[in-house]
Amino acid sequence: MKPIAFATLSLVLIAGCNDAPQPQEIAVVNAPTEQTGKNTYLMYCAQCHGASGDGKGSLQLDRPARSFIDSGFSFGNTVHAISKTTSSGIPGTPMPPFSDVLTKTQIESVATYVRSFAKTLKEVTASETEMIVEERPIVARGMIPPINDVCVLHPRGLIIGNPDGFSYEYRVDDVRLLAIRQGRFVERADWGARGGSPLTILGKISVLVENGNPNSMFTTQDGDPLRAQLASTNTLNEYGIIRYDLFDKDNNRVASVEEFCKPTTGARALIEQIIVLNVSTPIKMNALQGTVLEGETNIPVGTSTRNIFHATRGIQ
Ligand code: HEC
Repeated sequence: MKPIAFATLSLVLIAGCNDAPQPQEIAVVNAPTEQTGKNTYLMYCAQCHGASGDGKGSLQLDRPARSFIDSGFSFGNTVHAISKTTSSGIPGTPMPPFSDVLTKTQIESVATYVRSFAKTLKEVTASETEMIVEERPIVARGMIPPINDVCVLHPRGLIIGNPDGFSYEYRVDDVRLLAIRQGRFVERADWGARGGSPLTILGKISVLVENGNPNSMFTTQDGDPLRAQLASTNTLNEYGIIRYDLFDKDNNRVASVEEFCKPTTGARALIEQIIVLNVSTPIKMNALQGTVLEGETNIPVGTSTRNIFHATRGIQ
């Protein structure tokens, strides 16, 4: 229901842009590029990406728009790459193409404006496709290739790279952590195809959750599995956070979940998954094979926190 409502919305939006007079073009003729870019942005992008570029627009999306402040550029962050994305959109996501809506000049100036939100970004170009995590977490979205011979490709996935060198690979059609890696982050091999080919994930596997094909951690009190739908990704200091909602088989939302992972140091190398639950109907959380769940499996109505520990294969 939600995606359909959204699809209609974005059609209306695109159609609206095509049909409606474009008053800002009049003002634009002699305006400096910066002003043009800003005006275009506020008119066509801010409802999804937020007026300040933080990804918190007024429009409800089934998947979050990027925060430009938080390095949300998986297709490249040069003005050229941003122009291309703006022009062609991102198939399979709410990001619409603007090639028929805006002129080339408008697209270029809005791309310049978008680029200026992320002042500290290292430029990533098509010839230099390795994404480097620096002082802030980066989220790369795209297809997750099969992790091993028995795993499948996940058409919708994301990988969170944290500045400490760990990255967390999720499928997001039904949100689940698949693997934890250490080392380099991601190489975008799909520049031309716009998400048409899988990400090249560079880190070494340090944890494979239930052999890369994990069950859902959450069930109803009766043991029926709950579906996890991605709500957003965000950052908390040096950690990337993933947020999702849990739905029962009648599509009632029963909980919202926020999770992030961090390595713990000590005698054994562990990864701690910190899970904050906001529950409206009591649910159960089950430890996955090879993990330790700290706290009760029953999650009552209200806000609770649970920690899960994954033993790593040893960090060399
Ligand atoms: C209807 C909502 C919507 C509108 C309007 C919109 N965007 Fe987006 N945009 C999105 C979503 C959602 C994503 C993330 C898509 C994904 O998950 O890969 C996105 C992603 C992007 C990205 C990131 C691409 C990358 O490298 O990963 C850029 C750049 C972008 N939008 C630019 C713009 C510009 C410029 C405008 C206005 C001219 C605009 N968007 C208008 C929804 C929107």
